[in-house]
Amino acid sequence: MTKQPKAGKVGESAKEKKGKHAAAAKLRRSVGSSGTIAKPPSDRESDLDRAPKWEPRYPGSGRLDGKVAIVTGGDSGIGRAVCALFAREGADIAIVYLDNKADAAETAAIVEAEGSRAVAIKADVGKAKAGEKIVNETMATLGRLDILVNNAGEQHPAEDIRDISAQQLERTFATNIFGMFYLVQAALPHLKKGAAIINCTSVTMYQGAKGLLDYSATKGAITAFTRSLSENLVGKGIRVNGVAPGPIWTPLNPRGGAPANKVATFGESTPMKRPGEPNEVAPAFLFLACDDSSYMSGQVLHPNGGTIVNG
Ligand SMILES: NC(=O)c1ccc[n+]([C@@H]2O[C@H](COP(=O)([O-])OP(=O)(O)OC[C@H]3O[C@@H](n4cnc5c(N)ncnc54)[C@H](OP(=O)(O)O)[C@@H]3O)[C@@H](O)[C@H]2O)c1
Repeated sequence: MTKQPKAGKVGESAKEKKGKHAAAAKLRRSVGSSGTIAKPPSDRESDLDRAPKWEPRYPGSGRLDGKVAIVTGGDSGIGRAVCALFAREGADIAIVYLDNKADAAETAAIVEAEGSRAVAIKADVGKAKAGEKIVNETMATLGRLDILVNNAGEQHPAEDIRDISAQQLERTFATNIFGMFYLVQAALPHLKKGAAIINCTSVTMYQGAKGLLDYSATKGAITAFTRSLSENLVGKGIRVNGVAPGPIWTPLNPRGGAPANKVATFGESTPMKRPGEPNEVAPAFLFLACDDSSYMSGQVLHPNGGTIVNG
């Protein structure tokens, strides 16, 4: 097994901090020090100085044997760790990505190395027709659909609400929440009793985030959507839950989703004084995807380094 963060680990190693500072310096060189970043330089996982940990921690136990999952934003970060863990547990995976073909190919290889089938689907989830395209390609290549993970997201920091253009506002909402509607609409005819939908919200929804007004508002919408959709689908035997990560070391923040000064201290204000790794979040998705959570719907799990958010 690869080396993993120990349960309850507080703080970061000197090497981890060095990698974080190098990522902050690289970000500062490419976009400057402003607290407002409209366009990220790139969000490829391989561009990060400190590599995120995505590797599953334990041997598989067949929890998802014979199942097929769609994971949006599956090529990198939290999505990659979810794909790796679901594959280890026996699922075939449709990996949905926006731009990063190389990341998607790498994640597909990780899934295949676990003995599962993978298909990488390029789609902009914020477009109304994308849901159908993703579901049709999944059904054509993998033959069924049991789990939908709505994880794709974008984030652009802005210090002043007037720095948020109408275009950015619409795009962030299109990617982060409209896409969930389009995918559920397309997936529903194929989801049978026992199916699971898992939406990725955020600690920013519970705590607020003064520099992420549009992003945190989409995450609030996602939590409300999760609860309402749960009530809407529970009678069909389809469970709908959410995961609200705290600061997790993925490309999202160090590659332009946060200003450089925040990247330099990313995660240090949590009770565990460190960012989480993607493979510390993926098990929350697995729990909600499999029968271990058979009596749970409409709920949100909080892998966030110990921040108390209640709800
Ligand atoms: N990292 C954190 O601290 C944190 C905290 C709370 C919540 N989250 C949430 O976790 C989720 C995953 O983010 P991450 O941290 O793992 O970052 P990430 O590695 O940058 O993942 C974001 C993913 O979303 C995809 N994506 C973005 N816009 C898209 C679109 N319009 N259509 C299709 N795919 C799109 C990206 O694809 P490409 O790679 O092709 O661009 C990428 O795979 C997001 O919903 C994020 O809000 C993250």
